[in-house]
Amino acid sequence: MDYFNDRDGVLHAEDVPVTELAERFGTPCYVYSRATLERHWRAFDAALGDHPHLICYAVKANSNLAVLNLLARLGSGFDVVSGGELERVLRAGGDPARTVFSGVGKQVWEMRRALEVGIRCFNIESGAELERLNDVAGATGCRAPVSLRVNPDVDAGTHPYISTGLRENKFGVDVDTAMALYRRAAELPHLDVAGIDCHIGSQLTRLAPLRDALDRLLDMIDRLAAEGIAVRHLDLGGGLGIRYRDETPPGPAAYARALRERIGDRALEIMLEPGRAIAGNAGILLTRVEYLKHTPERHFALVDAAMNDLIRPALYGGWHDIVPVVQGSPAEMRAYDVVGPVCESADFLGKERMLALTAGDLLAVRSAGAYGFVMSSNYNTRPRAAELLVDGTQVYVVRERENFEQMVAGECLLP
Ligand code: LLP
Repeated sequence: MDYFNDRDGVLHAEDVPVTELAERFGTPCYVYSRATLERHWRAFDAALGDHPHLICYAVKANSNLAVLNLLARLGSGFDVVSGGELERVLRAGGDPARTVFSGVGKQVWEMRRALEVGIRCFNIESGAELERLNDVAGATGCRAPVSLRVNPDVDAGTHPYISTGLRENKFGVDVDTAMALYRRAAELPHLDVAGIDCHIGSQLTRLAPLRDALDRLLDMIDRLAAEGIAVRHLDLGGGLGIRYRDETPPGPAAYARALRERIGDRALEIMLEPGRAIAGNAGILLTRVEYLKHTPERHFALVDAAMNDLIRPALYGGWHDIVPVVQGSPAEMRAYDVVGPVCESADFLGKERMLALTAGDLLAVRSAGAYGFVMSSNYNTRPRAAELLVDGTQVYVVRERENFEQMVAGECLLP
């Protein structure tokens, strides 16, 4: 559930008419809803109830400082995948002791920094990384908390680009290798075996693959315990899907029930790393129609947002609902391809959408709060969009629209 609703024919972000946002701040812009973000985070937290748990919001989904800050205020943990994301968490007031560090290619400086600030756990993805972390921790004079990211070889049934739990993926280590690496980690002087983790993919709409992955991890935990290696937490990663169109993904409550049922009375803290399920439906991309163009084959709505602002349709064939901000247009309803000004045929936000449009109309691209702004670029030297956060009747500019000087900062001419 989100707080973007139609009121008297005008789309509102919480209590603010979206038309007002476009007038005051221009387009394209991202608009986030605080109440929605908080509601989604709380749904995960409440679902795990009194079982020891930590919800580590996946920063990559939406890393705006204001978004991180309001989740930090709720007591959220964080999942980061780079030194840059770690600095964002710190800048936003997040607690490093509630932050886990994922990712296949951690560099020495990133490990050092994470150790220095005292992160909760490193999610390790290879033998080479395990050895490197032991060396870095030794040089720093501390013990690094580690978890091994297991690749449980389950088919998450999602788009191949966002499926990560199959043998052929670069992520994690297979079960046998992980068992061997746990034995190695237990021997290494500068590592502390803290947990076990996996992340099998994103935008999952069924529980079955998550349950399968969990069963494989629980089996490993029991075998490790029999060898005297005690794992204290189990981190199942992110992945819970959202409704973009007509998907019916399980909610956090059903997911948590399945987890608790299977974990039983094992003394394991549960950690989850949801990104999309928290931020996805908490944001829209607001754009204005510049031109309508009719060709013998197609009707095009040329809008001021483009693939550089939201790349999901171009990259994954992602489907985002596109709705008029003001209802009741007298224009003729047509099947429009909603496209941007970038010089690529993949530059579309949606195809064959039934819309009644006039140049100058505002459109809202729904479900754009996750993997939207964070994946934006300056392609075609287009400034990155502004980001706004609505809280009731209040509007905050949480990132200004980029300008030309910012885009060329750091570049120079030859002498
Ligand atoms: N944990 C790890 C280790 C991950 O790799 C990811 C996402 C998450 C958590 C959060 O997953 P979520 O709950 O958001 O599904 N750009 C793609 C999605 C890439 C996801 C990458 N990893 C998209 O726009 O669909």
